[in-house]
Amino acid sequence: MRPSGGGVAERHRFRPLTVQQVVRETADAVSLVFEVPADQADVFTYQSGQFVSLRLHPDGEPLVRSYSMSSTPGLDEDLQVTVKRVPDGRVSNWLNTEVAPGDQLEVMPPAGTFVVPESCAEVVAFAAGSGITPLFSIARSVLADDGRRVRLLYANRDRESTIFAASLDALARCHPERFDLRLHHDVDDGFVSARQVGSFVGDPAIGAFYLCGPSGFMDVVEDALHDLGIADDRIHLERFTPLDTSAPVDEPDGKSSPAGEIEVNVRMGTKAARASYRPGTTILQTARSAGFSAPSSCEIGTCATCMARVTEGRVEMRHNDALTPDEVADGWVLTCQSVPVTPSVTVVYE
Ligand SMILES: Cc1cc2nc3c(=O)[nH]c(=O)nc-3n(C[C@H](O)[C@H](O)[C@H](O)COP(=O)(O)OP(=O)(O)OC[C@H]3O[C@@H](n4cnc5c(N)ncnc54)[C@H](O)[C@@H]3O)c2cc1C
Ligand code: FES
Repeated sequence: MRPSGGGVAERHRFRPLTVQQVVRETADAVSLVFEVPADQADVFTYQSGQFVSLRLHPDGEPLVRSYSMSSTPGLDEDLQVTVKRVPDGRVSNWLNTEVAPGDQLEVMPPAGTFVVPESCAEVVAFAAGSGITPLFSIARSVLADDGRRVRLLYANRDRESTIFAASLDALARCHPERFDLRLHHDVDDGFVSARQVGSFVGDPAIGAFYLCGPSGFMDVVEDALHDLGIADDRIHLERFTPLDTSAPVDEPDGKSSPAGEIEVNVRMGTKAARASYRPGTTILQTARSAGFSAPSSCEIGTCATCMARVTEGRVEMRHNDALTPDEVADGWVLTCQSVPVTPSVTVVYE
């Protein structure tokens, strides 16, 4: 793996965008509409289902968080994200209370693979809470584009906490033949159950399945889809919640790390250090154990915040939803997903 010089990280560089509008959606969710200047239009081109990452300094230290676009390319001129408060969440609460029109925020250009291909005949979507954002964009895009059908089950505590409730109702009225909307309220029907998922799916042979919401909700829906005989390659998941970073990391499929001590050399700016790799951890964790404040956000391989280049040795990534094949070929890796597969590895954070 040989890096081919600078420039690749450019695509993942944060850029200042001005907040044009702040829209209160529910008591605990707000939409931020960003103005994209003409000279940045290309770099901020996106597909429904993708996300951007924001870098903020609510308490002084930089924090990076990803947010899916709730706007739809081709229908909405500007780029919009919608942020729901998480209890005690540092960034989501700050974005809900502190941002005003005219503010500038640092935004990394769009990324993500939670998108619907042209070949998909019917979209069957399951969302809960803030998980509606990519699916609202996808639903509007598919309904505007062509004759395909969309079915959406969207779960919330009650009507008041349902983001985009009025817009979704309007969309259903506009496309009565093609948009099947079920707004599920826990206060009336309890938490979404496997039986409710089964009755919503109807014919399991039709469509591709898109899931986004809290982990518990996604687990129930995914298990129910498996029970209906739906194969993994027809089920697409967008996880918002970081993995438990204290859990041991599996080695990549079919590979094993070399026996004996593995040396990881880390460079960031003018600082360089060497650490021993501890099995069950990642390169990101190794870099931190060596004293580097290596950046990260999602830690599930979707945002590219943790990217670095391997300049010697080889690593394997468990999951990569952020880097293009060209970037990977140039030596870029997501360090939160990487484990070493050679006795010595050198990574450079730029
Ligand atoms: C690809 C991607 C797209 C995303 N899109 C959106 C979006 O469109 N809208 C949106 O509101 N959020 C979205 N998120 C989640 C978002 O990035 C943040 O994780 C979320 O706003 C919480 O950040 P925080 O700083 O407020 O919480 P933190 O201070 O990081 O966390 C506080 C506590 O809440 C827990 N926690 C963190 N995130 C969540 C969560 N999502 N639900 C429940 N508990 C959580 C943490 O484990 C921790 O215990 C997305 C995440 C990813 C990876
Ligand atoms: S921290 Fe998001 S891809 Fe590694």
